[in-house]
Amino acid sequence: MTAADFIDRQKLPKHIAIIMDGNGRWARAQGMKRIFGHREGVRAVRECAEACAELKIPYLTLYAFSAENWSRPKEEVNALMHLLVDTVTSEMDTFKRNNIRLNAFGALNDLPDYCRRGLSNAMNETAHHTGLTLNLALSYSARNELVNVVRTLAERVQSGNLKPEDIDAEQIAASTYTSGMPDPELMIRTSGEQRISNFLLWQLAYAELYFTPVMWPDFKKEHLYQAISEYLTRERRFGKTGEQIQKF
Ligand code: IPE
Ligand code: IPE
Ligand code: MG
Repeated sequence: MTAADFIDRQKLPKHIAIIMDGNGRWARAQGMKRIFGHREGVRAVRECAEACAELKIPYLTLYAFSAENWSRPKEEVNALMHLLVDTVTSEMDTFKRNNIRLNAFGALNDLPDYCRRGLSNAMNETAHHTGLTLNLALSYSARNELVNVVRTLAERVQSGNLKPEDIDAEQIAASTYTSGMPDPELMIRTSGEQRISNFLLWQLAYAELYFTPVMWPDFKKEHLYQAISEYLTRERRFGKTGEQIQKF
C-alpha cells in the first residue's frame, strides 16, 4: 500500500504547480557540475507527471526556466536548453503511455530555434491526448505575463472592442497563459527556499503553499503524495469563517 491509497480522490487538486528547485546545490554537494543535477531532475519530472496522470489530476504546471534564468552562465543556459529538447523527445513514451498532453508557455520566442521546434513537435504529437495537461513554464515571468495581459486589454479598449468598465478578473484570467484552466490549488517548492520567484502571481492568489527541504533530483512520487496529503488537511476558507466552511 502506498501513500496514494490514503488520498481522498474526490478532493484532489485539479491543478498543481511546482517550482522545481535545488538541482545545482544537489549536484555541487556531490562534487559534480550543476548540469548533472538538472539531468537527474528529469527523473523527478517523470515521476510527478506519472503520479498526477495516475491520480487523474487534470493539470500540472512545472516551472522549468524563468525569464531571470537567462542571466545564468551561458554554458548552463545552453545545457538546459539541450536538456529540455532531449527530455521532451525521449519522454514521448511516458506521454503516450499516460495519455499526457504537453503544453508550454512563457516568452517562447526567446528560446533558440531548435528548442522551439523540438517543443512544438512534442506538443503536436501529444495534442490529441486527453489525460493530464503538462504545462512547462519556459522563459516565464509572471510580471511579464501580466504586462502582456494589460497590453492586450489596452489594445482592445483602443480599438473599441472592450469598455474599461467591462474589465474584470475573468477578462484578465482569460488573457493569461492559463486561460481556460483552473487556478492551481497547490503550489510546491522544493529545496527549502520559501519564495515565489515571479511564478504565476495572478493564478496563485488562493493557492495552498507547500515548501519542502527535499532537493528536486531527490523528489519522488511519495513526496508528491505527502504534499497532496498535507493539502487535503488544510481548511480552505476563502475569506469565510471556519464555521461557515464546516457546514458544507
Ligand atoms: C532549479 O534548480 C532548476 C532551474 C532553475 C532551471 P537550480 O538550478 O535553481 O538549483 P539551485 O537552486 O542552484 O540549487
Ligand atoms: C526558480 O528557481 C525558477 C525555476 C525553478 C525554473 P531559481 O532557483 O531560479 O529561483 P531564485 O533565483 O533562487 O529565486
Ligand atoms: Mg534555484
